[in-house]
Amino acid sequence: MLDRIDELRSEINNASINSLEEAEEFRIRYLGQRSGIITNLFKKIGEVAPEDRPTVGKELNALKGTVESLHEAALARLEEETDGDAPEVDLTLPGRRPQTGSVHPLTQTLNDITRLFERFGFSVAEGPEIEDDWHNFTALNFPPEHPARDMQDTFFVESPDGPRNGVVLRTHTSPVQIRVMENTAPPVRIIAPGRVYRNEAISYKSFCLFHQVEGLYIDEGVTLGDLKQILRTFAEAFFGEVVQMRFRPSYFPFTEPSAEVDIWWEDEEHPEGGRWMEILGSGMVHPNVLESVGVDSERYTGYAFGMGVERIAMLRYGIDDIRTFYENDVRFLEQF
Ligand code: PHE
Repeated sequence: MLDRIDELRSEINNASINSLEEAEEFRIRYLGQRSGIITNLFKKIGEVAPEDRPTVGKELNALKGTVESLHEAALARLEEETDGDAPEVDLTLPGRRPQTGSVHPLTQTLNDITRLFERFGFSVAEGPEIEDDWHNFTALNFPPEHPARDMQDTFFVESPDGPRNGVVLRTHTSPVQIRVMENTAPPVRIIAPGRVYRNEAISYKSFCLFHQVEGLYIDEGVTLGDLKQILRTFAEAFFGEVVQMRFRPSYFPFTEPSAEVDIWWEDEEHPEGGRWMEILGSGMVHPNVLESVGVDSERYTGYAFGMGVERIAMLRYGIDDIRTFYENDVRFLEQF
C-alpha cells in the first residue's frame, strides 16, 4: 500500500494540466466519489495491517491535500489565462462619440466681432432691452412724427400716447450710446452688442428679433476718415483682406453725415456674379445727440455705427434664411 502511494505521489506531481477540462479530469481521477483512485484507497484502509494504518492514513491524507492544492492552483492559473484570451471589452467595436453641444453661430459671430473691437481699444457696454422713448428715439434726434415710431416697426410695451410716451423693446442698440454718454464724459470708445426687436413681417431676411453691435467713439477731433478706417480694418480682419466694401450715403436721424456699408458677396447664381449686401449703418454723431446728453458739440465730435450680426453671420457661413438661427434645429446647429 505504501509503495502504491509512493507511485501515485510521483504520478500526481508530474501531471500536467492544460485546460479546465483536464483540471476536472485530474480531480475526478484521484478524488472522484465513486471511482477516484485515492477515494478507493481510503475505502481499502481496513485491509491494511492495524499497526500500519496510522501511517497509511496520514500518507493518504497528505496525497489528497496535494491533489486538492494542485487542482486549485491549476484552476486559478487557467482562469486568468482564459480572461486574457477573451476580454469582456471588444476592442474592435467602433468608439461611441459623446454627444456634445456647439456654440451657436450667432454667438460665435458676436464673440468674434467683440474680440476684434476689444483689440482695437473698444470696451464693451450694455443697456436694457426694454427701453423708454427718450433713449430709443428722442435723445437720438428722432422727430416726434418719425415713421420709426410707428406701431409698424416698434413693439410697444406701454402705449405711445400714455403718460410715459411709451416703453418699447429697443429697436436698435443706439440707445446704449445715450446711456454711456449720460454716465461717462468723453473720451468714450465702446461697443454695445445685444438683441433688438422689430415688429416686421417675418421672412427669409427679417425676423422680429435680431442682434446688433453698436460702436461709439467720441473725442476731440474724431473725423469721418477715422470711421472709414476702423470699419475697413474691421472688415479686412473679419472677412479677409480681399474683401470688397463700399460706403453708400444714407440717412439716420442721429448721424450726419450718414453712410451704410455694403460688402460684395460673390454668388455664381446671381447674373452679375454676386451682389452688395448691407451689413451696417454708420455716421458722425449728430450735434443734437451730443447736446441731448450734455456733451459740448463744439469741442467733441465722434462716430457711431451699428452692425447687423445676423447679416454678417449669413455672409460668413453662406446661410440664406435668417429664421434658421432661431429654429434651434440640431442638424443645423451641429454644423458649426
Ligand atoms: N441704429 C441704426 C439701425 O438700427 C444703425 C446705426 C447705428 C446707424 C449707429 C448709424 C449709427 O439701423
